[in-house]
Amino acid sequence: MSAPETSPRITVAEAGRYAGQRVEIPGWLYNLRRSGKIAFPLVRDGTGIIQGVAVKSQLPEELFETIKNLTQESSIVVTGKVRAEARAPGGYELDVEDLQVVSRVPEGDPYPITPKEHGIEFLMDHRHLWLRSRRQHAILRVRHEVIRAVRDYLDGHGYTLVDTPIFTPAACEGTTSLFEVSYFDDEKVYLTQSGQLYNEATAMAFGKVYCFGPTFRAERSKTRRHLTEFWMVEPEMAYATLEDVKQLAEELVCFVVGRVLENRRAELAVLERDVSKLEAIQAPFPRISYDQAVENLQRKGSEIAWGGDFGGADETLLSEDHDRPVMVDRYPTQVKAFYMQPDPERPEVALGVDVLAPEGYGEIIGGGQRIHDLDLLLKRIEEHGLPREAFNWYIDLRKFGAVPHGGFGMGIERVVAWLCGLEHVRETIAFPRMLYRTRP
Ligand code: 4AD
Ligand code: MG
Repeated sequence: MSAPETSPRITVAEAGRYAGQRVEIPGWLYNLRRSGKIAFPLVRDGTGIIQGVAVKSQLPEELFETIKNLTQESSIVVTGKVRAEARAPGGYELDVEDLQVVSRVPEGDPYPITPKEHGIEFLMDHRHLWLRSRRQHAILRVRHEVIRAVRDYLDGHGYTLVDTPIFTPAACEGTTSLFEVSYFDDEKVYLTQSGQLYNEATAMAFGKVYCFGPTFRAERSKTRRHLTEFWMVEPEMAYATLEDVKQLAEELVCFVVGRVLENRRAELAVLERDVSKLEAIQAPFPRISYDQAVENLQRKGSEIAWGGDFGGADETLLSEDHDRPVMVDRYPTQVKAFYMQPDPERPEVALGVDVLAPEGYGEIIGGGQRIHDLDLLLKRIEEHGLPREAFNWYIDLRKFGAVPHGGFGMGIERVVAWLCGLEHVRETIAFPRMLYRTRP
């Protein structure tokens, strides 16, 4: 009764195109329900999950025994006929005719993640296996969609991808969150906090650029929004103002949300995400100033005083009033990075903007207009106590054809946590790095 050699090898996602045909699906046993006469192996292959139906009376006795005794996450190649089944999650089932066990998980040392509840630390310790579960799989597919949408948007709007270095000699976002690495011959370098400074150089060469890679922050923050290693996309534009930066941020966010709604509905359903909240994400986003934000927060009972930076709780309070991201601009110069262009009409505030996601997800984008004046930049580098020699190349950009320019950084994990409706960013990246976690 073994299947003819001609059965095509397909993926679960392709099953719909093979209804009525005999196929072969290589995968892993996700779960198994069984009775004396029938077994239902759930087969996953990374593209989806399909239920097999193995009927004892129709199979050789030995084969039925093998199926009945399969262990979770054993690797198997299942052969059978695809049948449309309206009640099945993917719309199809597989009537099993044959099954080869590639590698059987031993009974004595079973797969550690079972359908029962596990604690978060246990799951994080088994992250290399946890990625196989339905929920984690859905989250990482949304992440891929977000990344693809970001690239498609920027590639389609005239931005050139110019990646920036990870070993850097200087701080971009303050000296307190640098990871130091020993380089050769006693030289010290740091892991990049942001590609922005290099983006400013490449923007003067290409006009519109972006970099997209891992960035590092040695922040001792144990919050649901902080990783020590995270991925950031950073577009940068020559001849651009704060207004241009805000417009790009709004368009990019709308495009990304639209793509996820278009292509990842099934994953959002697995995550039980309320998609009506995402469907509301449309331009224009509300725009408020830092001054107004402080007033709103004080009215809501926050202790914030003008001049202070917002904490996570403040960001949540601010986003409460809106069903879409809110853009807050013109923060006090003193709380922002050295490179921020001061507002010419009010030098105590900077032409920077943060985009705060709704539903309490906090800052997803930070950016603004950069200082293009040579003397002002020199002054700021000194005020911030930064080593001038490490910035000589950056200073050159203000000598040779300086123009108003700007851009932003969008944290991929924060965006994915928001779109998926997750408690914590740790599930939005395959192998998270946090204050107390560098494994697996
Ligand atoms: O606001 P940040 O620090 O801005 C910059 O790094 C600028 N140099 C970017 C630029 O203008 N090119 O970081 C930008 C974004 C934040 O809005 C947030 O989404 C994310 O990066 N981010 C983090 N995500 C996870 N864990 C952390 N520790 C993060 N720190 C920042
Ligand atoms: Mg920021």
